Amino acid sequence: MLDRLNAIPPDPILGIIAAHAADTNPKKMDLGIGVYRDEAGNTPILKCVLEAERILDSSQTSKSYLGPRGVPGFNSAVTDLIFGSGSATVEQGRVRTVQTPGGTGALRIGADVIKAALPGARVWASEPTWANHYAIFPAAGLALEQYPYFDGELHGLRFDDMMLALADKGPGDVVLFHACCHNPCGVSPDAAQWEAITDLAAERGFVPYVDLAYQGFERGVEEDALAVRLFAEKCPELLVASSCSKNFGVYRERVGAISVVCADSGKAADVETVVHSLTRKNYSMPPAHGTGIVDIILHSEELTALWLDEVAAMRERINGLRRTLTEKIAGAGIEQDFSFLERQSGMFSFLGLSVEQVQRLREEFSIYTVNSARVNIASFNHSNIDYFVSALREVL
Ligand code: LMR
Repeated sequence: MLDRLNAIPPDPILGIIAAHAADTNPKKMDLGIGVYRDEAGNTPILKCVLEAERILDSSQTSKSYLGPRGVPGFNSAVTDLIFGSGSATVEQGRVRTVQTPGGTGALRIGADVIKAALPGARVWASEPTWANHYAIFPAAGLALEQYPYFDGELHGLRFDDMMLALADKGPGDVVLFHACCHNPCGVSPDAAQWEAITDLAAERGFVPYVDLAYQGFERGVEEDALAVRLFAEKCPELLVASSCSKNFGVYRERVGAISVVCADSGKAADVETVVHSLTRKNYSMPPAHGTGIVDIILHSEELTALWLDEVAAMRERINGLRRTLTEKIAGAGIEQDFSFLERQSGMFSFLGLSVEQVQRLREEFSIYTVNSARVNIASFNHSNIDYFVSALREVL
């Protein structure tokens, strides 16, 4: 039977980690995978996480199963973080959150919920979207189609085209949105555009599904939840897949959550049992170590304040790098306009290079990125930025 299986090439994003690790050039750069890096090129453990982990280690007394809800307290703390503590959605009991192994686990459970509720549902994602979205939905038996989103010429949002395409959707359609820090293009709707998108969702009756993987990395922890909160206020139903990988820096601990918002609290309680039955079939119960850490942080005023400062520092460093990169590229006499880097936000932007140019960066300069020329802005630092800019000038 297994003889029928052929090798599958490595995932384009994950494959870069191995290729970069094998390169012996001391100037090598990994601009691929979306992990935050500090000025020294490290992905540090946040101070709030170290402290919470110390508390967790000294207080836990068992590793026994916790059941489908996982760490008590995490789900409600994350609900408040996403939907706003005391918001009408929360007060009315319309939202239920269940922790999952990372944001990918959340996306998959949400896809399974859609498949269980409406097997023929059509799921629409932005063009382009995160590489793994293309795999997760079909793996759950759902067709993934796309709506216009990114304008490669103008490096901005195709807002009118997107609205026109979404005006065509209705009940039976699920539309996937990136709440902030769009991965891969770094272009997000502004507040007025989110108002218009959420009005359209309410009017047309399609179900929004929001991927919230970078809360706090665009404008702020509260600000980046705007889209979710507007959808929850205006639409009877909503799914949100959230991740703590980036904003708590707990990547390998796999901490995420699926939140379902229903028309009323009774239905939300029913749907939570569906989520539990789906997780049971997939991985039985969620892992508890990373969720335990986040739970401790979100239940401590002091650690939450420290966490907010640390998220702000990561956000500001990325924004500062966007400014420096734009200035250095212009200062290097490169004629092409890269000022869009400064206008975009979050971890990623497309450089607008051809596959040949990306390959030249890799082969001639040991600078690794995915073929789409998506770069992780957090990978730049003051020691490698000039090297990158001169390599860019060469390949252009
Ligand atoms: C990325 O897009 O690089 C991150 O979300 C990490 C991943 O798993 O792909």
